[in-house]
Amino acid sequence: MRIVSTTPFTDQKPGTSGLRKRTAVFAQPHYLENFVQSLFDVVEALRGGTLVLGGDGRFHNDVAIATIIRMAAANGVTKVLVGQHGILSTPAVSHLIRHCGATGGIVLSASHNPGGPDGDFGIKYNVENGGPAPTSVTDAVFERSKLIDEYRMAEGAVSLAKLGEQRVGDMVVSVIDPVEDYAALMESLFDFDAIRDWLTAHSMAFDAMHAVTGPYARKIFGQRLGAGKAALMNCDPSADFGGGHPDPNPVYARALFDRMFGDDAPDFGAASDGDGDRNIVLGRGVYVSPSDSLAVIAANAHLVPAYRNGIAGVARSMPTSRAADVVADSLGVPAFETPTGWKYFGNLLDAGRITVCGEESAGTSSDHVREKDGLWAILMWLNILAARKQTLTEVLSEHWAKHGRHYYSRHDYEEVDADAARFVMAKLDEQLAELPGRALHGETISAADSFTYHDPVDGSVARNQGLRVMFESGARFVMRLSGTGTSGATLRLYLEAYEPADGDHAQDLQRRLSVIAAIANELTGLRRTVLRDAPSVMS
Ligand code: G1P
Ligand code: ZN
Repeated sequence: MRIVSTTPFTDQKPGTSGLRKRTAVFAQPHYLENFVQSLFDVVEALRGGTLVLGGDGRFHNDVAIATIIRMAAANGVTKVLVGQHGILSTPAVSHLIRHCGATGGIVLSASHNPGGPDGDFGIKYNVENGGPAPTSVTDAVFERSKLIDEYRMAEGAVSLAKLGEQRVGDMVVSVIDPVEDYAALMESLFDFDAIRDWLTAHSMAFDAMHAVTGPYARKIFGQRLGAGKAALMNCDPSADFGGGHPDPNPVYARALFDRMFGDDAPDFGAASDGDGDRNIVLGRGVYVSPSDSLAVIAANAHLVPAYRNGIAGVARSMPTSRAADVVADSLGVPAFETPTGWKYFGNLLDAGRITVCGEESAGTSSDHVREKDGLWAILMWLNILAARKQTLTEVLSEHWAKHGRHYYSRHDYEEVDADAARFVMAKLDEQLAELPGRALHGETISAADSFTYHDPVDGSVARNQGLRVMFESGARFVMRLSGTGTSGATLRLYLEAYEPADGDHAQDLQRRLSVIAAIANELTGLRRTVLRDAPSVMS
């Protein structure tokens, strides 16, 4: 074991989802090592504990895993469970931590951001409940990283290709099949027979976007559910995601969207992101907004074996549309509104206060793990379609006819000047108090605030979690700055308009939201301040 001297980096503050930087930043000498040692210094239980380790297979994954294994040995970890070839999806890590009673896990990913030498890389620590470390832990790691002056490194290497146990010093490294335990969990939750039957009469397409879910999809959709070869798109993980951007939105999942909106479209389409926690689902000529997906899943969960006794409650991140609240209301269960970021769902799930939760950013999951879970959400939909013996379009329109439709879209202004973005936020912030009562373009503002979350389980408080402006019509817009970007700033504008159950649910989405978008722009001077005529992405 060697002790290596180092000096601190000042920028190791984890964001919405772990520490995310350009690959070149992580590849600098000592950068990863400093952060990992800070983690071992803070989470003392890892000494003598078990650590789950894996990533989405992006460029630098293998190098980072080899380093972390050597540092784990030097820091007294007893056992590391690592996915074969260093592969583990984020939800699979969450499941393994819980299933094996591990102390925690490390996921190497920058989620849906591109990979490669010029792309992004990231590291995230998950705690023993399987969920992302709470802010108390990430803050402590950041504080430690500012003081660190040495790290520990053992000698030794393992082959990530070979399944089974190897050793680095006294530490056991167990190389495991990344799919097996996760596939078994899925099989225990869903009615695979019913889904298999549905798939004999219907067709599906799944796009793994050259990212981590490829091997999981082959086993689950292909081998266990009988989906044919043509159904499985881009299922070989590659270090640069086939040169693409593993984000399952209409822009980057173009191939899937074209197929679903083309002639002879399959009945059901889906995709997931770089590390497998996000999902998008589509029917013929239609895609489901993630906020609606959460609502439909909540409303139909009782049709799926694991949830047949109903759900305890629903939670959504604040910017997610309020479609799920309406469902919770009709089911007579509580609905919670949490800040952006999966870590805020952990306490509610652990306390049994909610069963399903989700975010507008294509994340949905339940209490089966403590991460969002792309394949789980897709299987929920398949199981619901199979149980209802309907197509996705039928399920969605019946849902709106019962609960009304929340037209919803997120407009992202990516990589804009950080000062300009902060200026826009400050401009809205200072007007909040005087906005209620104001009428613009025929819409009257009913309330406006900066969102503060009071965690009902541990009493912790999270302030400044985004600015919300609500209208009497049931419409709303929200503005916040992204906490996952790696250069410049990304300003997110979330738009929502409500059309009651007996209203018109077939309007053009962006047109329906254009008034609210115009109001947001007028109040904040958004476009002229960030120097953009239009958002970079509308999803
Ligand atoms: C984004 C999403 C958020 C999600 C996070 C991690 O964070 O908006 O819902 O939890 O990625 O996947 P943001 O960049 O907005 O801070
Ligand atoms: Zn992700």
